[in-house]
Amino acid sequence: MSAKIKLAIFASGTGSNYQAIEQAIRAGKLEAEVGLVVCDQPEAKVIEKARQNNRPVFIFKAVDYQEKAVFEQAIINELEMHAVDWIILAGYMRLVGSTLLKRYQGRMINIHPSLLPAFPGLDAIGQALKAGVKVSGVTIHYIDSGMDTGEIIAQEAVNVKIGMTHEQLQTTIQQIEHDLYPRTIQQLISKGDSF
Ligand code: GRF
Repeated sequence: MSAKIKLAIFASGTGSNYQAIEQAIRAGKLEAEVGLVVCDQPEAKVIEKARQNNRPVFIFKAVDYQEKAVFEQAIINELEMHAVDWIILAGYMRLVGSTLLKRYQGRMINIHPSLLPAFPGLDAIGQALKAGVKVSGVTIHYIDSGMDTGEIIAQEAVNVKIGMTHEQLQTTIQQIEHDLYPRTIQQLISKGDSF
């Protein structure tokens, strides 16, 4: 029997997508294991969630490092120590640099709360509401050097109802994310080999 694919989850905030991935693993819907959680915000709620699941957590502060290449190398050391195959960004609020890209491009994905290429970057939900679109949604894409520009893997649309608040649209979008992300990860890893 081959070893399970190991995921590293990168997050900066609440970690609801991280939790959804853990739940899918427990439910047997995602045949993988979380080998590491990486977080750049020492106060983030995702850290507590990871600890409750007994996951190794690598916490760093970008300001403690001279430049991005240095902290990304520190992350790579951790990823290698935990034999991580795929990097799953789930609310990681940083642009990935060339050091991580060189090592993991093609095995690094992100989830974004809009139908890319519409509304990349910060507060995609607020951007969609401001633009008055009737349809928004969720995109899962590979990471490249741009901001939410990598090749699209999966998308799901959401109707934006008249008068919907930011909170309501966010809740609807996150419900979709929590289902679509684990399903998409399962499809991807069942296609590829580990490193
Ligand atoms: C998600 O909505 C995701 O699309 C975006 O950041 C949010 C993270 O939420 N990239 P959470 O921390 O997983 O709850």
